[in-house]
Amino acid sequence: MLQIAIVNGPNLNLLGVREPHIYGNQSFDQYVTQLRERYPLVQLHCYQSNVEGELINYLHSCMGKMHGIALNAGAYTHTSIAIADAVSAIGIPVVEVHISNVLAREDYRKTSFISSKCVGSISGLGMEGYALAVQYFQTPKTPNP
Ligand code: DQA
Repeated sequence: MLQIAIVNGPNLNLLGVREPHIYGNQSFDQYVTQLRERYPLVQLHCYQSNVEGELINYLHSCMGKMHGIALNAGAYTHTSIAIADAVSAIGIPVVEVHISNVLAREDYRKTSFISSKCVGSISGLGMEGYALAVQYFQTPKTPNP
């Protein structure tokens, strides 16, 4: 079975409560329940931490266990070389996910240290971005031309 980790960084434990005009009304747990029903052939492993080093430790722990990772590093996206290095180090394909459209917000959100280490990025499509990342991992790959 396909093993996919969804990793959420700081403040994403407050989804559904936090700035609902930006991040929506749904808690992450509610959303993941739906996601598991939609992708019965995928085993989803969810992890959230507000602590940079814990996120790095979790990414390391995915080695040899996960086929892919959907990573929303929250504000660490814009600051953390250490998380970017972890993404490079683990050798697992990572899709960067942002619920909001980071390019349409404050300038400091326009820089991502992790984008260039990821297979791709999804931003601005709401929670559905996580589903699209899972969909990507589930789709058989053809080599790029
Ligand atoms: C976010 C965007 C980040 O800029 C912000 O710090 C977050 C959430 C998003 O999902 O839109 O915490 O990653």
